[in-house]
Amino acid sequence: GAPVEVDISTLQPGEMRTVEWRGKPVWLIRRTKEQLDSLKVTNNEVADPASNRPGYTPKYAQNQWRSRKEELFVAVGICTHLGCSPSPYFKPGAQPSLPDNWEGGFLCPCHGSTFDLAGRVFKNKPAPDNLEVPPYQYLSDTKIIIG
Ligand code: FES
Repeated sequence: GAPVEVDISTLQPGEMRTVEWRGKPVWLIRRTKEQLDSLKVTNNEVADPASNRPGYTPKYAQNQWRSRKEELFVAVGICTHLGCSPSPYFKPGAQPSLPDNWEGGFLCPCHGSTFDLAGRVFKNKPAPDNLEVPPYQYLSDTKIIIG
């Protein structure tokens, strides 16, 4: 599949957009300061906080934010368990069964894996790894290319 260019200039703080790359949904989220801060909390609650497991995280995303730039999160929106599509929940309390201190993230409807706003899977969930970060780079401050 061809690389996909995305203009991110209109993506508002807290907003999520989905684009298609190689037939897969790719999420783009401009995370707010609060959402980025929530990653410090979930650091202790996720199975692989530094994304050390090989496979789903490119080198440049092996950091707490799992991204090239802190704000913009880019991830393949497919659960690493059996391939369902997790749903975004950006409001605490939006899902009563989710962990305490959960400032938002994603819930897979199939077997209940939860992910934080860096796509890191919470401990003791069926998904074996964090959500995939696709290859991408910045063409400018307002444009990225996926693939
Ligand atoms: Fe997502 Fe099983 S496919 S938890």
